Amino acid sequence: MLRLGVNIDHVATIRNARGTPWPDPLRAAELAEQAGADGITAHLREDRRHITDADIERLIGLRLPLNLEMAATPEMQQIALRHRPHAVCLVPEKREERTTEGGLDVAGNEAFLRDFIAPLREAGCRVSLFIGHEQAQIDAAARIGAAVVELHTGAYCDLDTEGRLPERDAELAALRQAAAQAHLLGLEVHAGHGLTFDTVGPIAAIPEIRELNIGHFLIAEAVFMGLGAAITEMRRRMDAVRP
Ligand code: PXP
Repeated sequence: MLRLGVNIDHVATIRNARGTPWPDPLRAAELAEQAGADGITAHLREDRRHITDADIERLIGLRLPLNLEMAATPEMQQIALRHRPHAVCLVPEKREERTTEGGLDVAGNEAFLRDFIAPLREAGCRVSLFIGHEQAQIDAAARIGAAVVELHTGAYCDLDTEGRLPERDAELAALRQAAAQAHLLGLEVHAGHGLTFDTVGPIAAIPEIRELNIGHFLIAEAVFMGLGAAITEMRRRMDAVRP
């Protein structure tokens, strides 16, 4: 079955815009569960621009598994080891970026990342590495003992939005091939970033992919149709290609 992880970062973005307690990411997570989400994803950034430490304290108590997205820094490692979330997804983080722009350079930081993930693995967290579709990154992820790779679908989604369809299709083909290669190496394959109702189908149809993590579009649609309905519709579109 293809799982849906709902990323609730941007519920916190709206809350933080006014410094009120609402909208509450925990309430969004509970609603996501009722609407058919299989997990909750939250990115604790170095600058705490959306999710805060206090949010993580509360989300860890949920019934649904928490996928904690974070940069590979000593501070974040300590936080993850204290809370022991179900999964830790390592992402590259740049202070000036609006969102996670590219994949992690696992191949270029192999020794560092092997040491970084070792205590997380020992603590029982499933370690996921957010990467592009390059073979070298997949091979390195397998070598250092990650359980999961999450493939970055941002470029595929951007090309679709811009109507650059031949390039979009080439990107999709590369993602398909990467999913197959990662699966062959024993890695569990996830995917995410930028997915919408229009772009989710071809990604959900890739047979090796076990989980999609989707956030911004669901929170954006929630303004118009409600969060529960947006999640239900996303699930329906995923299930339509992966019954
Ligand atoms: N997966 C990862 C690793 C991410 O960093 C993000 C963005 O926080 C997502 C998935 C979700 O992306 P979006 O919010 O664009 O759906």
